Amino acid sequence: MNQHAAIRFTLNGQPREIAAPPMQRLLDVLRQTCELTGTKNGCGEGDCGACTVLIDGVPVVSCLVPIVQVEGADVRTVESLAEGDQPHPLQAAFLKHGGTQCGSCAAGLLMTACAHLEHGGETDDATLRAALAGVVCRCAGYQQVIASVQAAARGGETLDGNHL
Ligand code: FES
Ligand code: FES
Repeated sequence: MNQHAAIRFTLNGQPREIAAPPMQRLLDVLRQTCELTGTKNGCGEGDCGACTVLIDGVPVVSCLVPIVQVEGADVRTVESLAEGDQPHPLQAAFLKHGGTQCGSCAAGLLMTACAHLEHGGETDDATLRAALAGVVCRCAGYQQVIASVQAAARGGETLDGNHL
């Protein structure tokens, strides 16, 4: 019996067809099959947010998503943010304002913040803390993260489509 299914979806703007067991975790398909290791495996249980990617623009913990669920969906990982050598404004702001230290949480924070800003979310401290609450950071402290997102948002003159 063939236990693999052909799953078609868009990954970082490119159409992909992946043969995988339908219940394989999206996280593992991304990291192992697609070799996109920017998305991190933290708790593996949906609690830490390190594995967050965007599915149809919504932050989702990829460790809890079977690959079959992304059939036809638009999946974006942290690798979609930079353009060549040019970091995304959020990435630049995280670097400049100390929004990341060990980096375990960075992809999850970046993708969650990206979705929040692309959807026109408010950038006051309380709103950002609530928006980013699903991603646990043990190192940097949230104030630097908030400051980073606010700095990126202030540079919003380049806001167009996928970019802030
Ligand atoms: S690894 Fe997915 S939520 Fe922690
Ligand atoms: S920078 Fe280490 S967990 Fe956030």
